[in-house]
Amino acid sequence: MVGTAQRQALRTLPKAELHLHIEGTLEPELAMKLAQRNNIDLPWHTVEELEREYQFENLQSFLDLYYQLMQTLRTADDFRDLMLAYLERAHNNGVMHAEIFFDPQVHVFTNHLDYNTVLDGLREGMRIGRERYGISGGLILSIVRDMSLESANAILDMAEPRKNEILGIGLDSAEVGYPPELFADQFERARSFGWHAVAHAGEEGPADYIRQALDLLRAERIDHGTHLLDDTELMERVARDGIALTCCPLSNLRLQVINSMNEHPIARFMREGVTCTVNSDDPAYFGGYVAANYEALAETRLSMEQLVALAGNSIDASFADDARKTTMRAQLDSWRTAHGF
Ligand code: HPA
Ligand code: ZN
Repeated sequence: MVGTAQRQALRTLPKAELHLHIEGTLEPELAMKLAQRNNIDLPWHTVEELEREYQFENLQSFLDLYYQLMQTLRTADDFRDLMLAYLERAHNNGVMHAEIFFDPQVHVFTNHLDYNTVLDGLREGMRIGRERYGISGGLILSIVRDMSLESANAILDMAEPRKNEILGIGLDSAEVGYPPELFADQFERARSFGWHAVAHAGEEGPADYIRQALDLLRAERIDHGTHLLDDTELMERVARDGIALTCCPLSNLRLQVINSMNEHPIARFMREGVTCTVNSDDPAYFGGYVAANYEALAETRLSMEQLVALAGNSIDASFADDARKTTMRAQLDSWRTAHGF
């Protein structure tokens, strides 16, 4: 069992968060408050009633609730408040740097908001968060793979005039049936904007989607990558090339990608030399922010030394500049000295 001292240590362990959907930080209390403020009719009348919905059989059953609650976000202030609520929690979880996904196709084409409203709100939240908590980072515009390619192209048109305000392109939502190869043109365009590229692959989809993300999208990190386990040759390649995986243990458990935390492949990946990181994905839905994900791994056979190595990987695999990485590494080294690891 993880004791209070270890729990406290994992909370202060300096780390970066590289796989976090800002819409997945919408806590049920805030969703109900926003629904009221914005006159959105939700089928639940109390937070307790809404909380009964948080049982998921797979990715799709989660996405249904996730998209439904996204309708409550309407104004730039809503997006700013959402970002600030996350950054406060992230700060209390030892996060020094956060690379944060958002799903603008849903806000613009499903919920009819202006792209600039969404971007302004999120960026204002990040500006205040950097000032208040010292958290650096950026936004990753995530292509929603089960929406139309026209909407993906249109969102890139909208993003282009302010391309310098975005760190990278991502690919998320329902995976099976929407292979990375469908999005090669969009990723090429994003790279021409000077953006980094990452993609969700191998969460529910096969290992071949990971290969496509690397070969056709030129993804620099793979989000999840759980099914890499099924392809030893590809696993060796990912290890050799130093492609980082952004693992999200509590998400995998809650979406039944794994049956128990002891089954999580992260320990095996680490043994095979794959660079892994620990992240929270959609913490308002999956029962914990990033420190709780480290804790869940501590409950399995991972040692404190391994958990510290994972935090180091999160810094190295981030898109922070060298000066910022050096600062974060120094903070991690002081933490190690103070804690004797
Ligand atoms: N997987 C795919 N799409 C998502 C996720 C996820 O875990 N969270 C939000 N969108
Ligand atoms: Zn995700």
